[in-house]
Amino acid sequence: MKGKGNPYRGDRFTRKAKSQGYGARSVFKLQEMDQRFKLFRKGAKVVDLGCSPGSWSRYVSQMGCQLVGVDIQPTPGIPGLFIEKSALDVTADELLEELGRVDVMLSDMAPRTTGDKYGDHIRQIELARKALALAVELDTESFVVKVFDGVETQDFSAEVRAAFPKLKRVKPEATRQRSVEFFLVGKKS
Ligand SMILES: C[S@@+](CC[C@H](N)C(=O)[O-])C[C@H]1O[C@@H](n2cnc3c(N)ncnc32)[C@H](O)[C@@H]1O
Repeated sequence: MKGKGNPYRGDRFTRKAKSQGYGARSVFKLQEMDQRFKLFRKGAKVVDLGCSPGSWSRYVSQMGCQLVGVDIQPTPGIPGLFIEKSALDVTADELLEELGRVDVMLSDMAPRTTGDKYGDHIRQIELARKALALAVELDTESFVVKVFDGVETQDFSAEVRAAFPKLKRVKPEATRQRSVEFFLVGKKS
């Protein structure tokens, strides 16, 4: 089977990621969003929340950006500085101390899923809201956040739009077709 009707279409991204030395197929989601929204310029300072196993960080670093990654899991070989703790406990000051300013806030954070769609959504939105709070406090130019779709989606999207008026909802091609995840890509202008 080929094309959008194929539930296994994501597998080619897994193979491609492996062959290109990326730790995860997620890299192609970020690449697609970057190609559409021109997220990274050389020298930009970027925070990557939920960075493990490091494919987004590797991509961002290859774009010539300076990076701080945060994850609860160890992330060996991350190209920038790595903070191993929950993003829920990370402060804006901590990130500023490392980078001086932050231009782009990325969050691909997701809790370990349990099969309870509502519970997974609520726990994931808590992470997304923390990413937004950091982006707002740091006054970043751009914001990219993963969202598990659910009852809070509309309210959360409005909160993001209030800070990033140019907002798009995106389901990159590399997202598994049955996944509840999508991304919000917000820019100030
Ligand atoms: C889909 S993976 C990220 C993949 C990554 N973007 C990449 O391309 O390699 C989601 C990550 O969110 C992380 N995560 C979950 N809860 C977190 C938290 N409270 N703080 C930081 N990271 C968290 C997980 O450990 C996991 O590594």
